[in-house]
Amino acid sequence: MKSDKNIVLIGMMGSGKSSIGKILSKKLKLTFVDIDQKIEEFEGLQILEIFKKKGENYFRKIEEKISLKFLSSENSVISLGGGGFINVSIRKMCEKNCLSIWLDWKNETIINRIYKSKKRPLAMKLTKGQINDLIKERSKFYSLADQRINCDKLDKVEIINKILDIHENK
Ligand code: S3P
Repeated sequence: MKSDKNIVLIGMMGSGKSSIGKILSKKLKLTFVDIDQKIEEFEGLQILEIFKKKGENYFRKIEEKISLKFLSSENSVISLGGGGFINVSIRKMCEKNCLSIWLDWKNETIINRIYKSKKRPLAMKLTKGQINDLIKERSKFYSLADQRINCDKLDKVEIINKILDIHENK
């Protein structure tokens, strides 16, 4: 039986939530929502600028407000920001209204991707050791997701097929 809940993709920065979410939404004919993009539209600023001008605490408040709004909607595939699932209200809303899927990768893959990206304010200034610690800390929360996909040995199509399979059988 198909789940009629939203699908929410969670995991670290660089785990492919947005690119996978976009393709998935087309396959399922659902609306795709990228929470980071919605925050940028709401603020009229890029995430990097919000962190620089207004600080992380401000960002987290807006992230909560925007995430709760879209998580409570229907028929969507939602890409949550990497820190979103750490917030208890966001997590509870995911539990209530969404099928949550953790895109899990080995740390090395995540670290390499983060260092290649110029738009990730939180991680840009961290050392490799600090990112490892952050992944360890966050994984405690990510592991509360309904499903975890170990993505290391899978290509994009295989990851998407796994999600479709989970969704179909939920
Ligand atoms: C963050 C992840 C980013 C963005 C912000 C903070 C985090 O989203 O929300 O830079 O705390 O991990 P992505 O996971 O989509 O890169």
